[in-house]
Amino acid sequence: EPDISDLVANRLRDVADFPKQGVVFKDITPLLGDGDVFGAVIRELASRHTGSSSAQPIDAVAGVEARGFIIGAALAHELGVGFVPVRKVGKLPGDTVQRTYDLEYGTATIEIQSDAVSPGQRVLLVDDVLATGGTAIAAWDLLGGVGAEVVEFATIVELAFLGGRKAMGERPVRALHVVGDGEDA
Ligand code: PRP
Ligand code: MG
Repeated sequence: EPDISDLVANRLRDVADFPKQGVVFKDITPLLGDGDVFGAVIRELASRHTGSSSAQPIDAVAGVEARGFIIGAALAHELGVGFVPVRKVGKLPGDTVQRTYDLEYGTATIEIQSDAVSPGQRVLLVDDVLATGGTAIAAWDLLGGVGAEVVEFATIVELAFLGGRKAMGERPVRALHVVGDGEDA
């Protein structure tokens, strides 16, 4: 049985100087394009939250626009639960709450509908990449602010050298593949 970290590593593409000079972009497009690996990734992310492997099942998956939607919708479907969209500002109708945060490059504002979750709903937050942690922390705190109990932040790739896990503090982080904790930074 191949190691999930290796499967991910083999389907990541490094793109130099994107989106700006000096940044090596970790492109997940090859992973998404490989049905076997995409499926293995979704099943692995789901595995902790299904049946006998979890005392308390989750009630919903939340994902952050844009790439978090791709992972999150597939994961919600795999788990048989609903999906909660956390969007870039200005896209969601009705009552919303927002947070602005620093990104690896620039700043961003994301928002969630005020009635996105029921009080106490157990939510699994997912995204493709953990870099500085700005996005994940903002999304986590938005969800908590509207009454969710966020149980885990799950990501395919963690860029350890950017310190996201430390920035997340007490919030549990799970990454399938970690870049920069050893030889392959
Ligand atoms: C990327 C990535 C994560 C975030 C990680 O999103 O998909 O959501 O950055 O960075 P951080 O840990 O420093 O916050 P981005 O908004 O750049 O692009 P996307 O809309 O394609 O998801
Ligand atoms: Mg993103």
